[in-house]
Amino acid sequence: MSAQRPRVFSGIQPSGSTHLGNYLGALRNWAVLQHEMDSVYCIVDLHALTLPKEPGEVRTGTINMARMLLAIGLDPEVSTIFVQSHVHQHAELGWLMQCLTGFGELRRMTQFKDKSDRLGGLSDGPSNNNASISAGLFTYPALQAADILLYDTDVVPVGDDQRQHVELTRDVALRMNSRFGEGTVVVPEHRIPPAGARVMNLQKPEDKMSKSVGSEAGTIEVLDEPKQIEKKIKRAVTDNDGEVRFDVQNKPGVSNLLSILGAATDADPATLADQYTQYGPLKADTAAAVIAMLQPVQDRYNALSESDVIDALAVGAAKAEEVAEVVMQRIIAAVGLLSPAQ
Ligand code: TYM
Repeated sequence: MSAQRPRVFSGIQPSGSTHLGNYLGALRNWAVLQHEMDSVYCIVDLHALTLPKEPGEVRTGTINMARMLLAIGLDPEVSTIFVQSHVHQHAELGWLMQCLTGFGELRRMTQFKDKSDRLGGLSDGPSNNNASISAGLFTYPALQAADILLYDTDVVPVGDDQRQHVELTRDVALRMNSRFGEGTVVVPEHRIPPAGARVMNLQKPEDKMSKSVGSEAGTIEVLDEPKQIEKKIKRAVTDNDGEVRFDVQNKPGVSNLLSILGAATDADPATLADQYTQYGPLKADTAAAVIAMLQPVQDRYNALSESDVIDALAVGAAKAEEVAEVVMQRIIAAVGLLSPAQ
């Protein structure tokens, strides 16, 4: 990795399959940025454990996600692609970050509120020990901050739902520099794409498309067959007024289709709206554009095998650890822990 170019870091959980939101909000930008910046991309398997998982589920998910990262166009000779648990400094800095992040800051995180609500919600009552909501789900953003800060990251390309976590990372990074000395950590910025930053569920367009929530019919998987994509988009929920207009507040379903079409064809959703008078042709064009965009990714994914990715991940972990160890030692020294005798 060269120190001259700005560095980009981002991560994705290996849970469930990769959907259109992941692709448009994050992954396709990762592939572009790898040619502009020193790029480090991480499959965040430790983060996946914050929600209950069957033994082995994360392992399989990690291999599939690595195949996906190569299929979307990441080149392991250009980018550093690795698995979070293969670089032990993530867990170590994760602990320090838990100690440097405020309880109140974590309590404000909307992702924690959403995910804990889905697990039944928090309760202070004596009969509820909240066992299904892990402490890790609460401290998750501190580990995410560690992921980012470990690589002296300048830019974090993410979808809109990660904005709050990256802002928290910035706040904590600024505080660390003022408390332990300027230059202790690099203060990162998020990079959220102009189109596709918030792809919504096709059946419930007021909710974002998600790996863990929402019906299958509302989620387009990157590996869906063309026929499935056509069917899902054809059945996408719209509204009854029949007017094609980009208006996220009042016409979430139609606006979501326009956003997807805009992101897939590199066009402005509001301008696209002028070209349609009916929902049928908008849906047909959106489906065709999504199918054409995903086809090359699917072809590459199907041509890759498990062994293709295992070697790439080992090389990636070694490259990542070289950077992470230097940064980790710098932070440990700034915080002021005793170094072990040599
Ligand atoms: P994750 O795995 O949920 O999602 C991976 C990326 O996909 C984006 N995304 C979306 N973009 C647009 N529309 C959607 N409906 C949509 N759903 C997901 C996410 O914004 C994300 O960029 N906490 C992170 C993983 C992480 C991370 C990091 C990211 C861990 N450490 C450090 C950046 C830097 C997450 O759960 O992403």
